[in-house]
Amino acid sequence: MILGVPKETKIKENRVALTPDVVKDLVKKGFEVVIESSAGLNSFYNDDAYTSVGAKIADKNAVYASDVLLKVNAPTVEEASKMKKEAVLISFMWAATSPELIDACVKAGITAFSMDAVPRISRAQKMDALSSQANLGGYKAVMLAADTIGKILPMMTTAAGTIRPCKVVIFGAGVAGLQAIATAKRLGAVVEVSDIRPETKEQVQSLGGKFIEIKGDDSVKMEGGYVKGVSDEFLKNQQALVSKHVKDADIIITTALIPGKKAPVLVTEDMVKSMRFGSVIVDMAVEQGGNVVGSELNKTVQKHGVTIIGEGNLPSLLPMNASDLYAKNMATLLLHLADKDAFKWEMDEEITKGSLIVHKGVAVHPSVAKTVSA
Ligand code: NAI
Repeated sequence: MILGVPKETKIKENRVALTPDVVKDLVKKGFEVVIESSAGLNSFYNDDAYTSVGAKIADKNAVYASDVLLKVNAPTVEEASKMKKEAVLISFMWAATSPELIDACVKAGITAFSMDAVPRISRAQKMDALSSQANLGGYKAVMLAADTIGKILPMMTTAAGTIRPCKVVIFGAGVAGLQAIATAKRLGAVVEVSDIRPETKEQVQSLGGKFIEIKGDDSVKMEGGYVKGVSDEFLKNQQALVSKHVKDADIIITTALIPGKKAPVLVTEDMVKSMRFGSVIVDMAVEQGGNVVGSELNKTVQKHGVTIIGEGNLPSLLPMNASDLYAKNMATLLLHLADKDAFKWEMDEEITKGSLIVHKGVAVHPSVAKTVSA
């Protein structure tokens, strides 16, 4: 079976789907691997690093002719149409919001598995690219904020006086948020955290953060451990409760997410206005519409004297680690689904079923089955 890894074409993308270490392992297991020339360069892996572990370097067309195409971001419609019939694609797809891509996969007669649809169950933890990348994103969000603010984060006692530690407020204590808490604590900041899942209180405290208590109400709907929805009234109460913490914050990192929905607005324009001149906000949920009024995707803007960072691809700013972890996630999924000769097609198995979006030209995943026009 020939695995192909193209160079990512999405703007500002530095990651690559397979790293040389992972290629070495796959070659040992009998796969052939073809890498597009310079595909790994932005992650600091040159073509020699791949050929030295048994991969072949080829041009884009040859890579797209592989049996299995391994990518970070979904291919464009044009790229998907280059794939040969019955080939297999594995990448992030965000299928529910990408009808044109799903159409293109159907028309090309390919099979597509999505990394963002791998079920978040214990057995699939090693394949969980959402978590591996969000973890790095949470770290980088704090580093960007620390680099932008005109202050140090830790307390410092000097002959000229004592510098007070920065106060960092973090919204959402999921994967990204917990790493943001740990990183801000390591840098010496005082950290306060708001989440609406009560079980996060203990996790926040174990990392040294202070939990801002918010009483849930009937409108907070949970499913499978995730928040499924909250009412506008609940959000208003939450905003009122956290506003005094926001006013005193030097740095805010927002990571609040309700899967499959637009991100909840947690920091209103009035709250931004209330912050000190020179404070910094990183809105990690900017791609899902943003937790902060005024954040803009892939832009850093100044609003009311506050810098709001809306970087949409933080993991790409740490391409060495992000590619390394992504490649391990991807290879684990691939080896779960296939060996060097063929895919297993265990259609009722939970991970296969959860991540399979298009099967041999038919849209099969419940999130897309109805949206396809073909
Ligand atoms: P997650 O699902 O693990 O965590 C989200 C958390 O938000 C949950 O703990 C949930 O309870 C909490 N939440 C929901 N509603 C809330 C509310 N009203 N107030 C406070 N907390 C609330 O998600 P993960 O993986 O940590 O990702 C977080 C966000 O960061 C997502 O929007 C994700 O797309 C984004 N992200 C952005 C990156 C970037 O480069 N900008 C990189 C990676 C993730």
